[in-house]
Amino acid sequence: MILVTGATGSVGYNVIRELHMSGCEVRALSRNPKKVSFPEGVEATAGDLTKPETLQAALNGVEKVFWVLPLDADFNFPKLARQHGVRHIVLLSALAVDFGSDNAIARLHLDAEQAVRESGADWTFLRPGGFMTNSFQWAHSIRSEGIVRIPFGDISTPSVDSRDIAAVAAKALSTDGHEGKIYSLTGPEPLTPRQQVHILSDLLGRDLGFETLPDDIARQYMLRQMPAEIVDAFFDLNRQGFSTVLPTVEEVTGRAPFTFKQWATDHIDAFR
Ligand SMILES: NC(=O)c1ccc[n+]([C@@H]2O[C@H](COP(=O)([O-])OP(=O)(O)OC[C@H]3O[C@@H](n4cnc5c(N)ncnc54)[C@H](OP(=O)(O)O)[C@@H]3O)[C@@H](O)[C@H]2O)c1
Repeated sequence: MILVTGATGSVGYNVIRELHMSGCEVRALSRNPKKVSFPEGVEATAGDLTKPETLQAALNGVEKVFWVLPLDADFNFPKLARQHGVRHIVLLSALAVDFGSDNAIARLHLDAEQAVRESGADWTFLRPGGFMTNSFQWAHSIRSEGIVRIPFGDISTPSVDSRDIAAVAAKALSTDGHEGKIYSLTGPEPLTPRQQVHILSDLLGRDLGFETLPDDIARQYMLRQMPAEIVDAFFDLNRQGFSTVLPTVEEVTGRAPFTFKQWATDHIDAFR
């Protein structure tokens, strides 16, 4: 049995689909598993990763776990999983770990990697860069005003499709030889947000405005939604950027990663 956490999220949901298609027994964990429908045969279970007392049934009979971190992650989870007999933990970490533990986003993922290493289970770390799904944050202003206003509009990054991260995770969970491996993952092409908005504009058949927000205005807006150290970490990551395209998705899955245009085509209804 494989337990997939973050099961209602962009990566976890696709991990479940991939594992189910390859015939694995899968259990899906969410605080509210009823909010999405899983493929027939997938066992949906309710549990909160920050409340160990809610996880006993979910971990029963599980051999492998896909761990997606909440912002307030409980780093005892890997030890608890190991105590229930889990042999292998595949962690959704982040490329941001390269920034070191002064950066709060890097620290969250470094602490989780350390907790997995110390649990005694076999491990595989997936370290993706920025997700294409981050563009969903633009959907509201595109729909209501036809404009995107964000900081760092001209910094390019090879953002990655959650389906590609999920495909790598599913390989690591269902085939041999991934123990002790760190997979750093990007999409196939560096694009700036401005270029991504052009692609959305072409697909929508509608001109879209684009404004690069000054840092101080963007900061005030973000502070209404997240803690200051996460906002600082986000600015730090984006200022330094990361534009190198990595071959890992294709090396592990045997197929090329999705482009932003492919992702946008498949999700364009969210922007209409
Ligand atoms: N966005 C990026 O650019 C980026 C880059 C690198 C790494 N990452 C990593 O990717 C993760 C997000 O992955 P994603 O996009 O697939 O997630 P997502 O779509 O944002 O969904 C979050 C998932 O986490 C679950 N969750 C949150 N808190 C939980 C809790 N206390 N107990 C149980 N489940 C909980 C949610 O389940 P319910 O709400 O249904 O309980 C949901 O399934 C981040 O946390 C980060 O570690 C993100």
